[in-house]
Amino acid sequence: MGLWNPLCAAAWLFAVFAPLPSEAALRSVGAVVQSTASYDGVDLRLSSGAQARVGFVTPNVVRVRISPQGPLESESPLPYALAAPPLRANAVITGAGQRSRREGDTLELRSASGTRVLIRKSPELLVSIYDAAGRLVSADDPARPTAFDAQEGSFEAAKRREDYELYYGFGEKTLPLSRHQQHMVMWNADVPDYAPGHDPSYQAIPFFIALHQGLSHGVFLNNSSRSWFDMGKTEPQRWRFGAARGELDYFVFTGGPERSPARVLQDYTALTGRGPLPPLWALGYQQSRWSYKTQGEVLRVAREFRQRQIPADVLYLDIDHMDGFRVFTWNPKTFPQPREMLGQLHAQGFRAVTIVDPGIKRDEGFAIYRSGRAAGAFMRGADGKELHAKVWPGVCAFPDFTSPAARDWFGQLYAAPLELGVDGFWNDMNEPGVFAPDGFNKPEISLGPQKTLPLDARHAGDGRPGDHARYHNVYGMQMARASFEGLRALRPDQRPMVLTRAGFAGVQRFAAVWTGDNSPTWTHLALTIPMLTNLSVSGVPFVGADVGGFMGSPSAELHTRWLQAAALTPFFRTHSNDVSAPREPWAFGPEHERINRETIELRYRLLPYLYSLFEASERSGLPPMRPLWFAYPGDTQASLVDDQFLLGGDLLVAPVLREGGRQRRV
Ligand code: GLC
Repeated sequence: MGLWNPLCAAAWLFAVFAPLPSEAALRSVGAVVQSTASYDGVDLRLSSGAQARVGFVTPNVVRVRISPQGPLESESPLPYALAAPPLRANAVITGAGQRSRREGDTLELRSASGTRVLIRKSPELLVSIYDAAGRLVSADDPARPTAFDAQEGSFEAAKRREDYELYYGFGEKTLPLSRHQQHMVMWNADVPDYAPGHDPSYQAIPFFIALHQGLSHGVFLNNSSRSWFDMGKTEPQRWRFGAARGELDYFVFTGGPERSPARVLQDYTALTGRGPLPPLWALGYQQSRWSYKTQGEVLRVAREFRQRQIPADVLYLDIDHMDGFRVFTWNPKTFPQPREMLGQLHAQGFRAVTIVDPGIKRDEGFAIYRSGRAAGAFMRGADGKELHAKVWPGVCAFPDFTSPAARDWFGQLYAAPLELGVDGFWNDMNEPGVFAPDGFNKPEISLGPQKTLPLDARHAGDGRPGDHARYHNVYGMQMARASFEGLRALRPDQRPMVLTRAGFAGVQRFAAVWTGDNSPTWTHLALTIPMLTNLSVSGVPFVGADVGGFMGSPSAELHTRWLQAAALTPFFRTHSNDVSAPREPWAFGPEHERINRETIELRYRLLPYLYSLFEASERSGLPPMRPLWFAYPGDTQASLVDDQFLLGGDLLVAPVLREGGRQRRV
């Protein structure tokens, strides 16, 4: 309080109200006016009225939280990304509680490992982090102090960027391997037939690993609203990030004394969770299409695999197995005896996975719709009425997966297909993606982030009610959670197999992830490596892309090459859309069938290795599929290699990615 003497006031007023260079509506968080030491760090009051906390989660992980409008949000309920409440590691604190006497006054926190956080108190808060060897890990950029737009509730911050610093992660992006000089938006979007470079995509994960001269660190922005990262695109000397709403809450992973990417990822997954060991069969070869149209067709495909002696573990049933696309139903004409069909599949050693979309047909004659309404499970619009949008079945209601009661209700729906014999489940369209409303006469926004529920729709937020703008990015992950937890409750002795299209930081706790509606082109085949390795270093171990490209028919050569490349990726599934030519391994003639059989056999020979990698991943957070730089961070040649990857520590995979290719450099 004593700081408000007339001498300081003028300088403070300037600091607080001076517009920032380009965004006049943004206001700096200002200087530290009060600091209070605690066990793990400091609580700060800032001249703008913002409040902040800076502290250690572990000796090598620093958390910074700044709330523009006063008190920090409580951690209960726990933010969706986090697997458990963050720990607090002891800090030795100097300079807290003291008044700021001159510009540049600092406060220091030091952890048991020797990691140091320096907080410059005035004229504006600046946080810098150093490792135990005294090397800079991350520093606020003094030219662009952290700032907020009080009216909109948005914020942005900037960090100094080293020349040639590279960045990996950010979830599912169709961008080059390193995301330096890219601007990215974190907003889950249904983007069929996406062009390379299109952003955003199905899975936003606001976490990345930075690499500079062999040293790594990581940053995770714990905020589920629409956020963005500019990794030196606008200004090469800094990287910037911000979000539309909420708290600036981020974790900096220093990478420990070795400053390694593996340490960063272990620490990040200690916070957001690790992928559980999948059932062994889910690591086998999986065959899908939209759709095998009848139970007879499904059984024919199964028999053909066995007759031709091509190993396979799983067949997928896409939306046409349902009665009018009503989830958890069977089409009485085309799938009249699902139990018998599933029994015959099992007798031949197959498992079956069915698709489950979030949209529940609004139909008074549909028992699941009625029971969802009675359970209060459906989302409501800003007007308080049940929210509707169109998807495959027509007008649908949408479960609010941020409500524990809705998750329980939905999870219980899996009892019926489990009892019939379905083995695993595929959660699709859960960005959520919806169709344009009737009478919509603008050009179809097929690639726009607009194609979702209204931003002012309401969510329960597990006790922290909020709108869809806040919870959009976690919708898919919470659907996968409802599925995973429901299955585990129904069959506690079996490991659930859930596949999801949308996700957010922490999705790995609940599901495998595939990269949505890709295209049958060589470009898309090549794209699978940067996409899947970056998803992997975003903490998601169980990842794959539709073999052959979803949106049409690949040539025989492309399909065969794609199968080879995918055979050594974690999730190995061939899938295609409703108008593509057949794509079973024998569909391209005897020569390709022979190669495809060998490819799939190779997968099966390596299955014990892959299974062991998944078991290790559950304990360490290290993904089975790894980019080369991850294993060799000090080797600058490895840092941009995007056409090879490592499977575990022992296998280098260098597939042919070029039409007509017969050899390649490794
Ligand atoms: C979406 C999915 C695709 C699925 C189709 C029909 O496009 O991404 O995999 O086949 O819907 O369910």
